[in-house]
Amino acid sequence: VEQSYIMIKPDGVQRGLVGEIISRFEKKGFILKGLKLFQCPKDLAQEHYKDLKEKPFFPKLIDYITSGPVVCMAWEGDGVVASARKLIGATNPLQAEPGTIRGDLAVQTGRNVVHGSDSPDNGKREIGYQCLPQLRVLVLLLASFQVAAASWMMRRL
Ligand code: GTP
Ligand code: MG
Repeated sequence: VEQSYIMIKPDGVQRGLVGEIISRFEKKGFILKGLKLFQCPKDLAQEHYKDLKEKPFFPKLIDYITSGPVVCMAWEGDGVVASARKLIGATNPLQAEPGTIRGDLAVQTGRNVVHGSDSPDNGKREIGYQCLPQLRVLVLLLASFQVAAASWMMRRL
């Protein structure tokens, strides 16, 4: 089933818009499959927005996304990626239609309260980033297991 990664950006959390934004996706009929409050580290923010690396506003964008906790969500449903983009509205909130999240709740491109994946493939990729910390722990565990096994074998030789 199609999934979209929807992230309430730091200004959305600080302004108390979490409930309002979740409510719009719930009322539409999409299914909430995962949610967490998360302080995004700089390297993950850079990875998430890597397609915009060459843009002049990139450093400001990374500062913005890492300026406070974000709410990370996986939403599921047929056509959820394109539909979520419609619910969210245009990148520049002044051009976003009334009735959209950005159209109703924001005025600046650099503080546009919410992110939505722009393709089903990017939806999968961005939701996958949330597994990175667990993967790092797994790799560390495997590495220390290997060291322990190697030293046990050396002692037996
Ligand atoms: P996301 O859902 O956050 O990916 O937004 P988008 O898909 O509508 O726009 P895009 O991916 O092109 O840009 C990502 C984010 O970079 C935007 O949501 C803005 O927060 C920021 N951004 C884009 N263009 C500008 C700009 O011209 N100035 C500033 N300050 N920020 C920008
Ligand atoms: Mg985008």
